[in-house]
Amino acid sequence: MGNIGAQRFLPEETSLPALREAARHCEGCDLYRAATQTVFGEGVPDARFMLVGEEPGDQEDRAGTPFVGPAGRLLDKALEEAGVEREAVYVTNAVKHFKYEPRGKRRIHRTPTVGEINACRPWLEAEMSLVDPEVTVVLGATAARALLGPDFRVTRHRGEPVPRREGAFYVATIHPSAILRSPDRDEAYSGFLTDLRVAAGLL
Ligand code: URA
Ligand code: SF4
Repeated sequence: MGNIGAQRFLPEETSLPALREAARHCEGCDLYRAATQTVFGEGVPDARFMLVGEEPGDQEDRAGTPFVGPAGRLLDKALEEAGVEREAVYVTNAVKHFKYEPRGKRRIHRTPTVGEINACRPWLEAEMSLVDPEVTVVLGATAARALLGPDFRVTRHRGEPVPRREGAFYVATIHPSAILRSPDRDEAYSGFLTDLRVAAGLL
């Protein structure tokens, strides 16, 4: 019970297919219990451009694929407008299981805790080191917490390249779900696009 962490579930062989298979059986925190399945990252194994979200949503949980719901459709549109080929990227989440609260027939998204983010981080770190992208777009506060630490403020430092290693950067921005919830969607979307263009310009 609790957050024992994903580390002990990592496979000896470090390849994306081996990680994906092992992650199906992860019990590193309690989130696997209520979720349908692990939603592992997807995309080009040696992508130069990677995007990291928060956690799968309702539709991702059913499909087993990241960013296939409303936020994903918005992301696809923005990537296209920013000139980034969706087929050339790797997309994943900080937390690999959907956290929700049942409300009638609906499942309402809940934000993962720091304990859950930390428990799941070994999967993300393994993906980061295998894909080793030149640009990593950090989508929202949860992904920022996982990759940039608890003191990083997306609102203050969005759109600013942060060095990851020699020749590789993070660029943080808002989460596409925040655009969908925003009172001024057009403005939120155009800010998001500006940040994505900064990221795309680093390639
Ligand atoms: N939001 C995320 O952060 N990730 C997904 O995969 C879907 C919605
Ligand atoms: Fe494992 Fe992450 Fe799922 Fe928790 S959320 S059970 S750490 S894969």
